[in-house]
Formats: sequence, C-alpha cells, structure tokens
Amino acid sequence: MGVLTSTRAPRLDRNALRTWYLNNRGRSAELFALAEPAAYYERPIPLRHPIVFYEGHLPAFSYNKLVREALGGASLDPALERLFERGIDPPDVRDAKRHERDSWPDRARVQAFGAACDAAVLQALASADLTDASASPLLKNAQAAFTILEHEEMHHETLLYLLHRLPLEEKRVAGRTGAYVEAAPLATGRVQIGAGTATLGARREALAFGWDNEFAERIVDVAAFEIDRNDVTNGDWLAFVRDGGPLPAFWLERDGAYRLLGAFEEMPLPLTWPVYVTQQQARAYAAWRGSQLPTEAQYHRAAFGAPDGSERAFPWGAAPPSAAFGNFDFKRFDPEPVGTNPAGASAWGVHDLVGNGWEWTSTIFEPFDGFVPHASYPQYSADFFDGQHIVLKGASPVTSRNLVRRSLRNWYRPSYPYVYATFRTVD
Ligand SMILES: [Fe+2]
Repeated sequence: MGVLTSTRAPRLDRNALRTWYLNNRGRSAELFALAEPAAYYERPIPLRHPIVFYEGHLPAFSYNKLVREALGGASLDPALERLFERGIDPPDVRDAKRHERDSWPDRARVQAFGAACDAAVLQALASADLTDASASPLLKNAQAAFTILEHEEMHHETLLYLLHRLPLEEKRVAGRTGAYVEAAPLATGRVQIGAGTATLGARREALAFGWDNEFAERIVDVAAFEIDRNDVTNGDWLAFVRDGGPLPAFWLERDGAYRLLGAFEEMPLPLTWPVYVTQQQARAYAAWRGSQLPTEAQYHRAAFGAPDGSERAFPWGAAPPSAAFGNFDFKRFDPEPVGTNPAGASAWGVHDLVGNGWEWTSTIFEPFDGFVPHASYPQYSADFFDGQHIVLKGASPVTSRNLVRRSLRNWYRPSYPYVYATFRTVD
C-alpha cells in the first residue's frame, strides 16, 4: 500500500495520504473528462445513478466520512451531502425507475461543492488527529482515512463501467483507441491443484487496513481439483454461442459478425482475450462443458497456495503488485490476451488470477465468522449479505494496485452484465 509498509505500522505518513488523495482526485477528474458534457445527466447503466451523481458522490463521501463523521466537523451543505451520500443497486430496471425522479444540481454547483469538500479533507489529512480512537471508533487505525481513499479508487473502476456504456460519440476517445491485439497463450489446458488449506480473509492485526468483509481469517480445507490454466476466452465463448449460448454484453453483432465493444472503440472480436460475462452466463458455459465455477476457497488455493504447502501474498510471490505481473492498475483500459504475463502466474502455473478481469466464483457473498460491520461504513458489506450477490476475486485492468490484496473480496449480482469479470472452470 505504500502508506503503511509494515504490518502494524504505528506512524501514519500524512504526506503519503495527501498524495494518495490528490492522485485519486486527479484520476477522477480525468475520468469525468472522458464524457462529453452533454452526457452529464445521462444514466448509461439504467441500474445506476447518472454521471452527475458520481462527481458529487466522491468528494461528498470523503467529506462525510472523514471530516463530519470521524472528526465531528460541521456540515458544508446538508442537502448535497445527503443527495450524494450513496449509490444504488436495484435488482432490476423497473426498480431503478423510482430513482429517475431524483433531480440533480447543475454542474458548476456540484464542482464548487466538491472543491469545498476537497479543501476540508486535505486540511484534515494534513493536520487532524486521524488515529484518535478515543475520540471516534472511525479513527481507530486511521480507518476513516483509508476508507475514503480506497472508496474513491473502487469508484474509478465502476465509473469506467458506466462510461463504457456511453455511445462512442458521447465519449472523448482521441488518443485512447488502438487496444486491439491478439496473441496465443504460451501454455493452455488444465492444472492439477493438490489438496491443502486455503487462508481466506485476514487477521485484523495483519493488515494496515481492510474492509469489514475481509475479517476474520478463515482457514479452509480444499480437496484436490483441476482448474483451467487460462481464463475462458472470447474464442472459447464463440464455440458456445454457435451451440446456442448467450451473447456477452460486451459483444456486438455487425453484419453477421461479432465485434467487441472496448472501452473506447469497437474492434474485431479478440479471440484470445478473456470473455467478460455475467456469473449466470459463466455458469451456463461451465455446465455446457460439464464443469463448474471455482469456489472462493478454490480460487484462493489456485492463486495463493503452493505445492509445498506454503501460501503467498500474491500469486507471483511476495513482490508488490506491478505491471510485470498482470493487467491491472490501469496498465490498459481493455483486456490483453490471456497468459500474457507469465511472471504473474501462481505457484501452480495458473495465469491471470490477478488482473485482466475479475474472476467469478460460485460462492455467495457472506460474512466470515467474526464479522463486525465497518465503523466508518456499516452498510458497506452488510447490505449485500442477502444471498443475491456473488464473490469475485482478483482484479480487472482498471483496478488500482492498492486494491490488489489477497483478502479483498468484490461482489455483484449474478446477472449484472457490466462488470469487467471473466471466469475459468474447475472439476
Ligand atoms: Fe460509493
């Protein structure tokens, strides 16, 4: 993470926190600038708020959590703080319709509010006591500061899901096209994973920061299994489509041929890229092959386990996440051919377990034993322990390296089609 390097660092580096915040704000501004101003009130994903919400939400969330809730600061603008407090995740488009009545302020007002939030947050990061747990439980281990920083980075990715769905003429794509590339993987087939244990979650004292659903640690016995070395590709999926399988939301049909909707362009279907699909679609493919999706524990075993019984921090070992190990941290906006980064393979030789697309599991998102709602954001996970959300692991091309952490868990509805998520099968 860079800010707290030892597992239990007592000193907080304020400058690193401020730099992280400023970098986040810079990237947010860059992403909002990708949309033509005319698209500002559009809802490119009908199950989510329009773009305007996110430009207000990011600074509002940081201000609400750190300055107001954790440090007891005054309100800047109660109406906007409430309007921009939280996003939505309705089960279907019909349910999303009731949010269409929301009315949104003009952009100048949103940006002025954001600037005021930023000034207060930066002031707090510079001089407030960020770790005074006796003043507020949100300050224990600087939780509120980490919460706002990781929250904004998570939104960079979900904002890109939204921008992905804007018509190309409403996006500023200059200089960002040309993502198409094909390469056959060096190794294919399946890998045998021996029986052993997998450590899910983490001990509270082992991490400088983690979200509530990452605790406590859970050690699971996993029987031997075999798993695809590479993610299922568009080429693999094409065979399924020709046998009656569903079309991914990222595919387009043009004059009888399939093409891919990339982040900033349409392109010939890249047959060697991981296919991005819903978990329902992934399950259908696995069933068609007579296989299954991996459980969360099987993912851990394949990614972090090793034949000698040890466990690693990352699939490639202990080195901090970097571009040599996979397609994440905005190395690209789009996927790359599967198996492109052999240096990032796991001890078993399984590729792309972190990067190039989140990995769907078959596991319903549930708390580990010892779960305690996050003091800074009690609804963060708890609202999604409803049996309707599925665990994803790993990272996509646009997941920050700060979120590449063994215990990090992502979750979506199994039918949500916009996430940069792929899969592989196991038996
Ligand atoms: Fe949020």
